[in-house]
Amino acid sequence: MDETLILARAQFGLNIGFHILFPSITIGLAWILFVFRLRHERATNPEARQAWLTTYQRWVKVFAVCFAMGVVTGVVMSFQFGTNWPGYMTTVGNIAGPLLAYEVLTAFFLEATFLAVMLFGMDRVSGRMHLASTFIVAFGTTVSAFWILALNSWMQTPAGHALAAAETGGGRLVAESWLHVIFNPSFPYRLAHMLLASGITASFFVAGLSAWRLLKAPADAGARGTLRLGVHAAAVLVPLQIAVGDLHGLNTREHQPAKIAALEAIWKTQRGAPLTLLGLPDEAEGRTRFAIEVPKAGSLILAHDADAEIRGLDAFPEHAPVAPVFFAFRAMVGMGVLMLGVAWFSTWKLRNGEAPRPLLWLLSAFTFSGWIATLAGWLVTEIGRQPWLVTGILKTADAAGRASGAQLGASLTAYVLTYAALLLSFVVVVTHMASAGEERK
Ligand code: HEM
Repeated sequence: MDETLILARAQFGLNIGFHILFPSITIGLAWILFVFRLRHERATNPEARQAWLTTYQRWVKVFAVCFAMGVVTGVVMSFQFGTNWPGYMTTVGNIAGPLLAYEVLTAFFLEATFLAVMLFGMDRVSGRMHLASTFIVAFGTTVSAFWILALNSWMQTPAGHALAAAETGGGRLVAESWLHVIFNPSFPYRLAHMLLASGITASFFVAGLSAWRLLKAPADAGARGTLRLGVHAAAVLVPLQIAVGDLHGLNTREHQPAKIAALEAIWKTQRGAPLTLLGLPDEAEGRTRFAIEVPKAGSLILAHDADAEIRGLDAFPEHAPVAPVFFAFRAMVGMGVLMLGVAWFSTWKLRNGEAPRPLLWLLSAFTFSGWIATLAGWLVTEIGRQPWLVTGILKTADAAGRASGAQLGASLTAYVLTYAALLLSFVVVVTHMASAGEERK
């Protein structure tokens, strides 16, 4: 692969990877905020009412910072469609353009308008209107995810399109059925997996920052409430995610079998394929060094049948680079299993209402664990579809722009430095916001 293509991909990968960090918190956090606001509205005891109000006011500011970061990084990304991938918009702009526009029209305007009511309207509108605004923002973030996942799923498993007639720009795609474009074969799995990923990321984020707060102010009743809520939500969402992940894998095997062969490093088509837990894929030699394998478990997990035939990389002349997707997949699943352990262990530890300090340290360490699993998942999905940008329709190399290696290298360096500074500032600011309070003890 030539150097400019690698740089263009690295740059876009960095942008999309940085961008996804923020929606992965905001979608879940918006619903958590709705729960805080509802509990404030419903509480009859004045003390509880005040505690939920304080909690809401603390977390709505954190939400606003995450939301703003998501918007700003999203804008940079949309510029890069043009600068790095002009062939993308030329070929599939008739599909991608409307889907992105629907997101802005049906979700972003809704979120932006009612976020202002959430932030500044507490004393200006009725309690019910304020509660409704919190719900509308949560609903809007979910609708945003719907459209973006529709587009990304369509790029993975395209459906419902046709080639435009020569006189209207032959070579370009047009939508034949928007219903099939949107509800393409991988969409339901991808949407469910992403929404759960966000719920889990936000739950650990809330639990982790609340634990950090409790290490400084053990008497903070509000932080104890949010800690419990984050832990309990994670304890329910992580096992659901594992079940949905399994279904997602079955769907990928059906529609993108080359991706499955790469992420499991299955070199040869075989019945009763083993599951490689760990190892070092060696693409030049077509084998996995130091492989730790469980016999037949690959077929069992991938096809729910221990003797099923799994197509190996030898069946696909073109496929993704094996090592990155193999390791990313293990990072995602490994993190999922760890999160399950932490969420269930914490639920058990918190059963008497007490939060021992070692548990608070453990949960603080897991504050950003959702980011690791989410980024690993994205890498599996996006590297796994290579060499295609839109499966079977447009190759990544054919969509690349004409920027030189030097231009891409310089802008990539600027992005790396800017994003590193932004990320550090973000972590410092939200940690301060969520853990600040009057009653430090
Ligand atoms: C532990 C069991 C899990 C399994 C079996 C699993 C399975 C999968 C599979 C098969 C894919 C790739 C599908 C494709 O590209 O066609 C994927 C992608 C992804 N996973 Fe997981 N996953 C698990 C846990 C998690 C966790 C805990 C998170 C985050 C908290 C997560 C977040 C993601 C994300 C963000 C993607 C990319 C989204 C997409 O599919 O477009 N996964 N997962």
